[in-house]
Amino acid sequence: MELDAIKHIGVVGAGTMGSGIAQVCATQGYRVTLVDVMPGALERALAGVRASVEKLHGKGKLTDAQRDAGLTHITPAGDLAALRDADLVVEAVSEDVALKRDIFARLDTLTAPGAILASNTSSISITAIAAATSRPDKVIGMHFMNPVPLMQLVEIIRGLATSRETLDAVMALTERLGKSPVEAADYPGFIANRILMPMLNEAVYALMEGVGTAEAIDTVMKLGMNHPMGPLTLADFIGLDVVLSILEVLHDGLGDPKYRPCPLLRKMVAAGHLGRKTGRGFYEYGAG
Ligand code: CAA
Repeated sequence: MELDAIKHIGVVGAGTMGSGIAQVCATQGYRVTLVDVMPGALERALAGVRASVEKLHGKGKLTDAQRDAGLTHITPAGDLAALRDADLVVEAVSEDVALKRDIFARLDTLTAPGAILASNTSSISITAIAAATSRPDKVIGMHFMNPVPLMQLVEIIRGLATSRETLDAVMALTERLGKSPVEAADYPGFIANRILMPMLNEAVYALMEGVGTAEAIDTVMKLGMNHPMGPLTLADFIGLDVVLSILEVLHDGLGDPKYRPCPLLRKMVAAGHLGRKTGRGFYEYGAG
């Protein structure tokens, strides 16, 4: 697939990541179809896109044409069948390998044989997802960062069978979306989470062992290392269940005890204290 042949982009999953990906594709001129099966998810996603696009336009970061495209170029749909004529699909559902393989198998039978199928997975093997299709050469990882409209990086992951042509098209597309692509090999956690997650996990160990309070740990990393958010604030932002599941992928996939998830992290997830999204994690958050 040549870059210029990509005109219609499908996004599967209208959560935070999927809606952010749809937004960026729409504001950069692509026709986007956003699919979700959860009642209310599409309405929430479109309201979020509207608010984000208006905010970025108000700050002069989007032109009038880009704002209008962001507000009008995303078509919501409740069924994968709406992606029949998509040239590229980005899957952004929850981190469940069986669910992802099922979606890729269905996309494989639905879409044109030349369409590229990408996953926004943060740590699941692209090779394993690709093996659920008859076109593993056209399956690739496009790992966007949260919040997608603000973050510059997209990690591009080449599975064992991903072709050079697919890689080149997706690297070029990412640049056209105004982002910076970086290639990573298909090992657990790729580059971003291989390095980020042990740091977040270590911050939880430091809290558990009483090395410092949550505020102290975050302040050290913010003021001492110029990180925009402290690690515990960032873990709350990502979601403690997501952090735990990525650490488990690293621990299982690499087999090194240095990736073992901190018991305090497990306890917080068991208690349902998942961070910002539940109103409580290492910090408490007001309603909404
Ligand atoms: N759309 C538009 N505007 C947005 C937005 C969005 N989606 N999200 C936030 N903003 C706006 C805020 O409303 C705010 O606007 P005002 O200045 O008008 O109030 C502005 O952006 C700046 O936000 P904040 O003042 O809240 O704080 P900030 O200056 O710290 O910036 C941040 C926010 C960009 C998120 C910054 O804190 C940051 O870079 N944090 C680290 C994020 C990070 O590490 N992301 C990666 C997570 S890991 C991941 O995604 C991968 C994985 O697999 C787990």
